[in-house]
Amino acid sequence: MLVFASRDQLAEDVARILLRRQLGQPRRPLGLATGQTMAPIYAALAEGVQRLPGPQRQKLRRDWLSFNLDEYLGLGAGDHPSFRAMMNRHLTMPLGLDPDRVLVPDGQAADPQREAERYAATLAEAGGLGLQLLGLGLNGHVGFNEPPCGPEAPCRCVRLSPSTRNANASAFGGEATAVPEQAITLGLREIMAASEILLVVTGANKAAILQELLRQPATPQLPASWLKGHPALTLMVDAAAAPGALVD
Ligand code: GLP
Repeated sequence: MLVFASRDQLAEDVARILLRRQLGQPRRPLGLATGQTMAPIYAALAEGVQRLPGPQRQKLRRDWLSFNLDEYLGLGAGDHPSFRAMMNRHLTMPLGLDPDRVLVPDGQAADPQREAERYAATLAEAGGLGLQLLGLGLNGHVGFNEPPCGPEAPCRCVRLSPSTRNANASAFGGEATAVPEQAITLGLREIMAASEILLVVTGANKAAILQELLRQPATPQLPASWLKGHPALTLMVDAAAAPGALVD
């Protein structure tokens, strides 16, 4: 576990890792997350890309291919709280990326389960995930893999828990009832098959679930706990999330 003094220092380190991977060869697509944990990381990444020499910046844009974890059912690019819109604001536009190379499940697909299967198939055709960036839900979810969830769960439609709708309400004017009830998410199956995983946990409100994660053996009740069995997991936390976790 890597502990950083501040959220911003952590964000700069993650951005450096992402840039290094994206500029290297060969590689599989990048797996990306949304949520408040990711905002400073994407800001640091945008700054890092601005500092790159022109040819490297062009190469990064040309070669970019990423798959986001999830999207709310019913929401699309025109909806401010959608994950597609968040990615446009925080990543696609600041980095000057081709939106067609920043993939997000289509929350407005007529048949969401078929869309989940299509998204998983597109990812498989692209070679599966390389580096997967993950945040941690307050109830231990990753992506929208809500508890209980086993390690083989595939990309699919899911129902969001009241805790998650509550945690994500700030993007919906503070109204938990305005948060969609369902979403499409990559499953633990696709996440566990990534070649490398960065799990990022920041803020005092995550200290308790981080402590649980460190203590618990792998269990469906804490979906992120399966990640501990991944051969290339790096857990990156800030001091605000860490103290409780460090107390035995
Ligand atoms: C959300 C997203 C996840 C995210 C997690 C933590 O609901 N589906 O991809 O990593 O929960 O979110 P936050 O960073 O806002 O705490």
